[in-house]
Amino acid sequence: VSDTLPTVWPIEDHTLAKHAILKRYLQAWFPILSHQSAIVRSPSQQILYIDGFAGPGEYEKGEIGSPILALQAALEHSRNFPRPVRLIFVEAREDRYNHLLSVLSRYERDLRESRNVIIDPPRLGECDAVLSELLSTNEKRGIKFGPAIAFLDQFGYSAVSMDLVRRIMRFPQCEVFSYLDYKDMNRWITDDSKAPAYSRTYGGEEWRKAVEMPERRRRAFLFDLYKEMLLKRADVRYVYAFSMFDYKGILLYWLFFCTNSIRGLEEMKKAMWTVDKTGSFRFSDKDNPDQANLLNMDYGQDWLADRLIREFEGRETTVGSVKAYVLEQTPCYLFREALGRLYRDGQLQVPQPPPKWKKGSFASDEMILSFPQKRLF
Ligand SMILES: C[S@@+](CC[C@H](N)C(=O)[O-])C[C@H]1O[C@@H](n2cnc3c(N)ncnc32)[C@H](O)[C@@H]1O
Repeated sequence: VSDTLPTVWPIEDHTLAKHAILKRYLQAWFPILSHQSAIVRSPSQQILYIDGFAGPGEYEKGEIGSPILALQAALEHSRNFPRPVRLIFVEAREDRYNHLLSVLSRYERDLRESRNVIIDPPRLGECDAVLSELLSTNEKRGIKFGPAIAFLDQFGYSAVSMDLVRRIMRFPQCEVFSYLDYKDMNRWITDDSKAPAYSRTYGGEEWRKAVEMPERRRRAFLFDLYKEMLLKRADVRYVYAFSMFDYKGILLYWLFFCTNSIRGLEEMKKAMWTVDKTGSFRFSDKDNPDQANLLNMDYGQDWLADRLIREFEGRETTVGSVKAYVLEQTPCYLFREALGRLYRDGQLQVPQPPPKWKKGSFASDEMILSFPQKRLF
C-alpha cells in the first residue's frame, strides 16, 4: 500500500475516535496491570506498551499522536504505579521517526521525574522485524514476555502477520489492539501480486474465497474470517472487533482487540462506550452501516434483558457466564441492572441464594442463575 502522506498529516475524526478509545483504555489498564503484576510478584518488573506503528508523534495542527497519548496516560496518573510502564516505539519511516524524537524531547524533564514511565530509545525499523527480535530474545531464554499491550496501528492491512499476533498472545497478560484497513483490502484483493500479504495477515489461504464474492458478502466474510483466525490460529481467548465508518456510512477500517483477560475485555468495552457521542464518527460491532451508530442505538438495559432471555431461556448458568456472553457477544458491558429487572419480573430465578442475599443483586460471578422456559399460553 503506497503511503504518499507527508511527515505529519491532518488528523481525521475517526482517528480522534480511535485515540479516545485507546486513551481511556490505557488510563484504566496501566494501573490495573501494574498492581496485578506487583501483587502476583511477577518476575517482570515492568509493563510493556508497544506502539508498533508509532507515527510522527503529532498531527498537522499539533494534535497528539498515539505514542504521546500513551506517555501522558502513564505520566498523568495521579498515583505512582508499583511497576512502571516501559514504552517501546517503532516507526519505519525516517522522517517520521526523527519527528517523533523531537516531539518526545519535549517530555524529557517529565520523564526524568516520573516513576511511572521508562522509555526505550525509539526504534527505526519495521514493526514485525523489531518485535520478532524482542520476542525471540525472550523465547530463547525462556523468559516471560510482558505483561504487554501492543498497539499495531498500521496503514493498510499487510504489515501485521497472524504469526506476530500469535507470538505476542502466547504469553500471559499480553494484548493486541490492531488495525485492518478494509477499504484497502477490498481494493487490492483481486490483484494477484498482493496475495502473499493477505496470506500473512490471515496466516493461511482461506481468504481467497473472498476474491469472487460480491462486495457486501466479501466484507462480512473477511471480517468474520479474521476474527476466527485470531481465535483459532493466534489462540486468543477473547476477540472484540468493531468497524469504523465515516459519517456517510462508508466502512473504513476494523479494530480488533485481542485479550486473554475478561477484565481487559471489560475495560476495553467501557472505553468504547465513553468515547465522544457527538456522532461525528460512527462505530459498531455489527458489520452493517445501517446499524452503525452504536451510541445512538438503544443498547440499554431493556434491550439487553431481552437479548439475555433469548440467549439463556430454559437454561441454568452463572453470573460469570452471563458476563462473558455480554462482553463478547453484545455491544454492552453493564449487565447487572438487566439481571435485576428480569429477576423482579419473574423471568429469572436464583435457585441457591446465598445467606443474607440482598434480593436482585448479582455481585458474585459464581452465583447460579436459572432462566425459566417462557410459557406459550
Ligand atoms: C496509521 S500511522 C500511525 C499513527 C499513530 N499510531 C497514531 O495514532 O498517532 C502508521 C505509521 O506506521 C508507519 N509504518 C508503515 N509501515 C511500517 C512498518 N512496517 N513498521 C513500522 N512502522 C511502519 C508509517 O510510516 C506511519 O507513520
